Amino acid sequence: MIVREGLDHPAGQAAVTLPVGEEELGRHQRGGQGGAGLRHKSSIESQPERLLSALSVTPIPVRTRRLWGFAHADAENGRVTRLDLHTHAERPELARSLPELMAGLWPEFVLHGAVAERHDHHTSSTFAAYSLYLCAGGEVVAAGKTVPLFWDGTAQGLPGGWDGALERGVRDHLAGRAPNTLCALGAMVSRRHQGQGLSSQILGAMRALAGKHRLGALIAPVRPTRKAEYPLTPMGRYASWRRADGLPFDPWLRTHERVGGRFRRVAEDSMTVTGTVREWEGWAGMPFPDPGEYVVPGALCPVTIDLDRDEGRYVEPNVWMVHKPLPD
Ligand SMILES: CC(C)(COP(=O)(O)OP(=O)(O)OC[C@H]1O[C@@H](n2cnc3c(N)ncnc32)[C@H](O)[C@@H]1OP(=O)(O)O)[C@@H](O)C(=O)NCCC(=O)NCCS
Repeated sequence: MIVREGLDHPAGQAAVTLPVGEEELGRHQRGGQGGAGLRHKSSIESQPERLLSALSVTPIPVRTRRLWGFAHADAENGRVTRLDLHTHAERPELARSLPELMAGLWPEFVLHGAVAERHDHHTSSTFAAYSLYLCAGGEVVAAGKTVPLFWDGTAQGLPGGWDGALERGVRDHLAGRAPNTLCALGAMVSRRHQGQGLSSQILGAMRALAGKHRLGALIAPVRPTRKAEYPLTPMGRYASWRRADGLPFDPWLRTHERVGGRFRRVAEDSMTVTGTVREWEGWAGMPFPDPGEYVVPGALCPVTIDLDRDEGRYVEPNVWMVHKPLPD
């Protein structure tokens, strides 16, 4: 379904339209997981009234003087019933909530990639208009960040992965090359608000952002959320696993697919994290007495420990998914 709310923002667009996966949200709000057979693709173009009545929600009146936003329902006992959407450019102070929001959501080592350490600051400066906060009752309950870049539309032309996308976004920006694509770099939902379908809302917001900026696609180097339970399985194999209902086995890949994302290729070298053995022992919370490969909690594939070089090295594979933007 689509919820449309009036807008008033500097770029002069009159409205933004964000998708709310009707069955997705309805199912989550009912609190049930349902059987696999009951799960099918959300209809993006269906009647908002149906969802709203199913949730006992009142449509939010149009509010002006806000860059853009969307609404469906109010926060009560952690249940999100109404969301406001802001970019970092619009409400930079919301970034103060991020450390608390992010606490424990990611394994520590993913925050120490060399590219992230070098360039991540751009997401709240150069690309501030492409970082998103989803708020309920004034509280940031979810966030996402994206970067605009140029992509030639081919599988080979995709960036190497997460690192490559951020590097390309920065490089394109510095070179004055006009972007034609938006790339998702991360989506997160606070622990308290998980399991309510907010991740689909983030993806919808990202697709809308791509449309607002007249970009031709939303691409995402997806970090499948259950892959860490199968660190020895090659990513291509893992991404091909399907449930009986035909949807991906992995919940996050499934969410992408439900809102219309399509698999493009595996990004084998999406993000590289290197550190000393001591650093890795701290990040992983386990000692590495011998050289070799280790299964580390939260890692999607083994981490290689080289005691002679005093180095731990992790090259994370991700999955490229491609989405259509939502028309502005
Ligand atoms: C991944 C994440 C964004 C999902 O957010 P969410 O709003 O809780 O997810 P949803 O409620 O939309 O659920 C989406 C699917 O994931 C499943 N899911 C949600 N949390 C889960 C968990 N902790 N473990 C396993 N499955 C989970 C849901 O059951 C649903 O699957 P379904 O198709 O069977 O219904 C959230 O868990 C998160 O922020 N994780 C940490 C950061 C991260 O890994 N981000 C993704 C990589 S960038």
